[in-house]
Amino acid sequence: MTIIAQGLSAKRSGRTILHPTTVDIKPGERVGLVGASGSGKSTLGHALIDALRAGGTRVAHVPQSPDEALDPLRSMAFHWREAEQALGLAGDDARRLQLFDALQIAGGDLGKRPWGWSRGMQQRFVIAMALIGTPDLLVMDEPTSALDPVVAAGTMDLLDLYLTDRETALLLITHDLGLAAKRVSRLMVMDTGRIVEDAPTARFLSAPQTQAAQALCAHRNWLELPC
Ligand SMILES: Nc1ncnc2c1ncn2[C@@H]1O[C@H](COP(=O)(O)OP(=O)(O)OP(=O)(O)O)[C@@H](O)[C@H]1O
Ligand SMILES: [Mg+2]
Repeated sequence: MTIIAQGLSAKRSGRTILHPTTVDIKPGERVGLVGASGSGKSTLGHALIDALRAGGTRVAHVPQSPDEALDPLRSMAFHWREAEQALGLAGDDARRLQLFDALQIAGGDLGKRPWGWSRGMQQRFVIAMALIGTPDLLVMDEPTSALDPVVAAGTMDLLDLYLTDRETALLLITHDLGLAAKRVSRLMVMDTGRIVEDAPTARFLSAPQTQAAQALCAHRNWLELPC
């Protein structure tokens, strides 16, 4: 069934940072959300997640910063246990090791707190947490921003497999048109709190309609990026 959230909006300090917006995503569909810094992508992501979860849709989230997901006072083992418990799952070391191996963080010490892991390892840990269950939608906000290009590409390959396997839909929030071009079939563009363009990726890249989309395409040599 198509995932739909209507009337998403947000105000901060009396200022509208997200104008009323409807988002629809088909089962298993992969959608990118792009736009200038401050255009409202993360705000829309949060509003979408809140609305969908309130309606019973299962949504996993990889926030823009691992800090949003990891408590500096808790060990990594605690976070992992908490993620399993939130999904009603018993602890499963084999499942954890499989995810850690795939994301190349098997060497991380679970007894340590987040700051005992590098930023890139924290980011992959948070991605692994989001992959424990079988959500209807995975919202990832700049999931590879702390990763080197080789690890980023490997992480996105793993994600492709995971999404196909579970028929999970993806909303990929990114600044990186190269990443989006390769990984999503549809792109939405945000500009000052509104979605101003929503098009199949190929059409968007070859013929961007709005000024915001044209600016993004003009300033990115997206074909040459590796992931
Ligand atoms: N808690 C807040 N209080 C006040 N303004 C906020 C708050 N959160 C976000 N904003 C403002 O809302 C706008 C959208 O922010 P948002 O974080 O959604 O942008 P973004 O597109 O995700 O940017 P980036 O690409 O830099 O992550 C920005 O102008 C930001 O300054
Ligand atoms: Mg953001």
